[in-house]
Amino acid sequence: MTMNESVTTKFFEIVAGGRVNTAPEWQDYLVAFHAEFPYANELFTLLQRFSGETSYTILANAAAATGALRVLDAGCGEGNLVDELLEKLSTQAHVTGIDINPDEIKICRDRYAGIARVTFDVGDARALPYPDASFECVAAHQFLNLFPDIQPVLSDVRRVLTRGGSLVFVANRGWRTDQSANWMLLHQAAMEVLKTMYPQFVWPRMGDMRVYREDGIAEIFTEAGGWDTSSLTIEGFNVGASMSPSEIAALYNHLYLFATIPNKKPVLEAVERRARELAVHDLVQIDLPSRLVRIRAK
Ligand SMILES: C[S@@+](CC[C@H](N)C(=O)[O-])C[C@H]1O[C@@H](n2cnc3c(N)ncnc32)[C@H](O)[C@@H]1O
Repeated sequence: MTMNESVTTKFFEIVAGGRVNTAPEWQDYLVAFHAEFPYANELFTLLQRFSGETSYTILANAAAATGALRVLDAGCGEGNLVDELLEKLSTQAHVTGIDINPDEIKICRDRYAGIARVTFDVGDARALPYPDASFECVAAHQFLNLFPDIQPVLSDVRRVLTRGGSLVFVANRGWRTDQSANWMLLHQAAMEVLKTMYPQFVWPRMGDMRVYREDGIAEIFTEAGGWDTSSLTIEGFNVGASMSPSEIAALYNHLYLFATIPNKKPVLEAVERRARELAVHDLVQIDLPSRLVRIRAK
């Protein structure tokens, strides 16, 4: 067992034993998970609108619309948003990607080697290694939904933004919010088996649940201070894909929590069985209802 596996296994054992994790335990899990599964975010490149746009495209367009020349990609992962930012932003713009995970930053540096318009740093979004007012735009894809304690991140994002600078982010709407979606039915199949294997299992605390509600998002920014809440806009959108039952099971092998169940075979098999029931012509439509949020710094 590698060090990362032991961190993710220990985390799983906490929630399997019936205790809700603390925020630092989840932060340690995130780091270990992404080291163990460095390409886990590929999922978001598969999910598209009918027009073919991914949520990375939608977010990069929003960042480009701000006219920013210095853009920070907070929690950049393996750099999927950077691709789109380089395409959509002005050619004068510089992109900085930051992630706490050195393995992912190494992937980014290799991927964008020789491109002067982009640089990457290993660092913590709760203590960004940049002077105040360093960026006109901070973009964050599937990132701000990951913090049970969101205020320290928002506070440092605000600090590195210029006055009038923009935070633009994409977050999904949570798998429990869209009751009829196939995604929900697949999760239920996984949870039924998980609950049989670990009767005390409790769902972990993976973020500030307010991020999954429109009024919750407004509340977070009002509470934070330093943001022009009159500039807040929230747009819902949907991205999805059609996948075969075996592709869906493989997907669960890269999802938070499910991927790190010590004996995950019965859970993945249950997901594949449910996917076969839901399939039409051997394909299951998976949708990820999401939101694009924009707000300016005061
Ligand atoms: C769901 S992934 C999203 C990655 C990327 N934005 C994307 O969508 O492709 C979340 C990322 O947040 C990073 N992360 C977690 N905690 C962090 C922190 N405190 N500071 C910076 N990055 C963090 C993880 O390493 C991971 O790469």
